[in-house]
Amino acid sequence: MEVKKRMIIFNTITVITPFIVAALTAFIFVLVSSKVFNTNINYDNFRKLAATRYELLNTIKDLSRSNPEHLEDVEFQKYLYGKLSNIDGEILIVKNNTVIFGTKDINKIDIEKSLDTVKDETLKNVVKINNDSYMVEAASLTFKDESTGNVILLAPVGKEPNIFGRFILVVLGIFFISFIGTNLFMSYLFSKRIVSPIGQLKKATAEISKGDLNSQIMEIGDNEIKELCADFEKMRVQLKDSIRMKMKYDDNRKMLISSISHDLKTPITSIKGYVEGILDGVANTPEKKDRYLKTIYSKAEQIDIMIDDLLLYSKLDLNQIPFNYEKTDIVEYFSYCIHESGPELEKSNIHIQLHNALQNSKYVMIDRERMRRVIVNIIDNSRKYMDKAEGQIDILLRETNLSIIVEIKDNGVGIHKDDANKIFNRFYRADLARSGTTGSGLGLAIAKQIVEGHKGKIWAVGHGSEGTSIILSLAKVKDL
Ligand SMILES: Nc1ncnc2c1ncn2[C@@H]1O[C@H](COP(=O)(O)OP(=O)(O)OP(=O)(O)O)[C@@H](O)[C@H]1O
Ligand SMILES: [Mg+2]
Repeated sequence: MEVKKRMIIFNTITVITPFIVAALTAFIFVLVSSKVFNTNINYDNFRKLAATRYELLNTIKDLSRSNPEHLEDVEFQKYLYGKLSNIDGEILIVKNNTVIFGTKDINKIDIEKSLDTVKDETLKNVVKINNDSYMVEAASLTFKDESTGNVILLAPVGKEPNIFGRFILVVLGIFFISFIGTNLFMSYLFSKRIVSPIGQLKKATAEISKGDLNSQIMEIGDNEIKELCADFEKMRVQLKDSIRMKMKYDDNRKMLISSISHDLKTPITSIKGYVEGILDGVANTPEKKDRYLKTIYSKAEQIDIMIDDLLLYSKLDLNQIPFNYEKTDIVEYFSYCIHESGPELEKSNIHIQLHNALQNSKYVMIDRERMRRVIVNIIDNSRKYMDKAEGQIDILLRETNLSIIVEIKDNGVGIHKDDANKIFNRFYRADLARSGTTGSGLGLAIAKQIVEGHKGKIWAVGHGSEGTSIILSLAKVKDL
C-alpha cells in the first residue's frame, strides 16, 4: 500500500472509530438501563427535561427583570405559579430565611439543599426532596425594604435526569477514551509500517558506513518504503560486488607480481648462466654452443608459455574473457581432440581411446576453443606424470539426468588422496611433480576457471599408483 493511502485510511479510522464506539456505548447504555434499572431514556423524555429546564430558566429571567415590589404581590405570585403549571412546577419565595410564599411545603434543610444544588453549577441541577427528584433553579432577590431572599423554582422529574447526566458522561468519556486509544493504536501501526523499516535502513546504512556490507536489507513496509529498501539492497550488493572485485584485482596483481618474481626467475637465472657460459668461452666447441643455445631457447619458450598461462589465468579470474558458446556434439568433439593429440602421445608411447556410453543425449554448449585448452591441459598432465612404459589414457563419456560426465583417466603416477582437491589451486604442484617435470602449476587452475565459466564442475579422483581421473560435468542441452 502507498504511504498516502495508508495515511488517509489511518486518519479516517481515527476519526470514525470513536463515534462508532460512542454510539455503541450509548445503545448498550440505553438497553441496560431500561432492562436493569427500568428507566426510559428516549428522545421524548430528553425533550421534556429540556423543556422543563427552559421553562425554569425563563421564569427566573422574568423574575430578575420584574420590579422587587411585585414579589410580595399575591397576584404576581399566582401569575408565576400559573406560568409553571404546565411543567407542574412549584415556587417558593424566601425572605430573611422565612418562606413568604410557597406552593409546596418544604422544610428549611431542603431549601438549603436546593440553593446549594443551584450554586454547585453541575450539569444536573436536580435535588431530592422526600424521595422525589426535582429540577431546581433559584435566584437571589432584594425586596423593596432592602431585605434579601431567594426565589426557588422546582419542577418534578422522574429518575431520568440522573441517568441522563450519567449517560452523557459515560458516552463522552468513552468517546474520548476510544479517541485516544484509536489514536495510539493507529500511531503504533503507522510506526510499525513506516518508522520500523526506516529504522532498519538507518541501522543498515550505519553498518555500511562502518564497512560491514553483509547484512541484507529486507523489503518491508509500504510500497515507497519497500522500493527504498530494494534500492538500498541493490546498492549494498553492488557496493559489495565492487569491493569484492577490487579485492580480486588487488589479489590478481599481487599474484602476477609474486609469480613473475618467483617462477619466472628460475628459467631466467638459468638463461643467464648459459649466456655467460657462451660469453666466457665455456661452450668452446660448436656442439657445446649449439646445446647451450638450444637450452636457452627452450627456457625462453618455457617463460613464454608461463607468461601466456599467467595472463590467461588472470583474465579468466577477472571474467575478462567472453565465452563463445556453441552447441556441440560431444562425441564428435572428443574424437577430434583425440585425433589432434593422438600422434604426439604415441611418440611418448601413450595410447588414447574414447569410450562412449551416451544413449540419450550428446550435446553440450561449449566454447570449443577454450574447452580444447582444458582437454589439452589435462592430457598434457597425463603425459607429464606418466611412469608406466605402456601409457594409457581413456576418455569415458556417460550421462546423468541433467549432465554429461567426461572422465579422462590415465595410468600414470597417480595423485595423493590429500592432493585431489588441491591440484586445481593456482601454482599448486605435488612434491613429485616439483622434483621432476617443468610447469608452473597453472594448468588445472586454468581448466577449472574455464569449466566453471561454463557453469560446469571439475574434480579429480586418484586411483593410487594406478593412475588419476580428472572428471568434468557439463550441462546437457536438448538434441533438437
Ligand atoms: N594426471 C596426473 N597425474 C598425476 N599428477 C597430476 C596429474 N594431473 C595433475 N597432477 C598434479 O597436479 C599438479 C597441478 O597440475 P597443473 O596442471 O595445474 O600444473 P603443472 O602440470 O604442474 O604445471 P603446468 O600445467 O602449469 O605446466 C601437478 O603438478 C601434479 O602434481
Ligand atoms: Mg599441467
